[in-house]
Amino acid sequence: MSRPILVFDSGIGGLSVLAEIRKLLPRQHYCYLFDNARLPYGELDEQVLVSGCVALISQLVARIDAAIVVVACNTASTVVLPALRSQLSIPVVGVVPAIKPAARISASKRIGLLATPGTVKRHYTHTLISQFADDCHVELFGCSELVLMAEQKIESGQLDMQRLAELLAPVIAADIDVLVLGCTHFPMIRHELQQVLGPEVTLLDSGAAIAKRVASLLGQSHISNVVSDQQGQGEQPQLQAFYTKAEIGEGLQTALVDCGFSTIERIATTNE
Ligand code: DGL
Repeated sequence: MSRPILVFDSGIGGLSVLAEIRKLLPRQHYCYLFDNARLPYGELDEQVLVSGCVALISQLVARIDAAIVVVACNTASTVVLPALRSQLSIPVVGVVPAIKPAARISASKRIGLLATPGTVKRHYTHTLISQFADDCHVELFGCSELVLMAEQKIESGQLDMQRLAELLAPVIAADIDVLVLGCTHFPMIRHELQQVLGPEVTLLDSGAAIAKRVASLLGQSHISNVVSDQQGQGEQPQLQAFYTKAEIGEGLQTALVDCGFSTIERIATTNE
């Protein structure tokens, strides 16, 4: 079988990135790995985050013979990429908050970054802001509760709009015209975020940019045995999902089946 693309996140957030990649590359095989036993990542200590992610991802890369790894998690991408790249011999693509395009399109030059507490405090993020948004006033909002609300929405189909409005009050008060969704969970509640913030705030995420990067890497000849566009017809694309929690809820199970996952399985972490 052709080699799959491994997409990784702490929870359901990476599905927003996977959806963008599948739009460009519908015939590939995909494996979605989510470390929901340790979610939310935004609250984890940096070293714990790095060692856990490297061990878990490396283990699955070896098991499924992945062609590319996409770290579809901003929080993990701020710290794990160097260690992961030194461990693996395949390309590793990370997510970068869309600060650069936000600074470019902002008319008021007042932009916001809505991300996890981990992402907003990292050196990586501050370097990105000084490199690409030097001419803007950038407000940082770190919120893990929104991550849990996005998870809850997938599980139950419900989102507490009143609580969402409370959590977004500081964003509204900041009077920005562009808000970067710097956590892959947030595009999953984009509609509700837009409803609360109003049409005058533009929401930006980096899903489509990551998809383009993956497509361009796939076009390079040194990545062997992925499905080529011409080849695709014969082989049915396969979607497998692996999670780390003891069990997952029925709502999530159904959502994954609806996304097209045929295998949904628990994977043991290396310290079990
Ligand atoms: N989806 C993640 C991100 O992009 C992490 C959310 C979390 O586990 O805190 O940052």
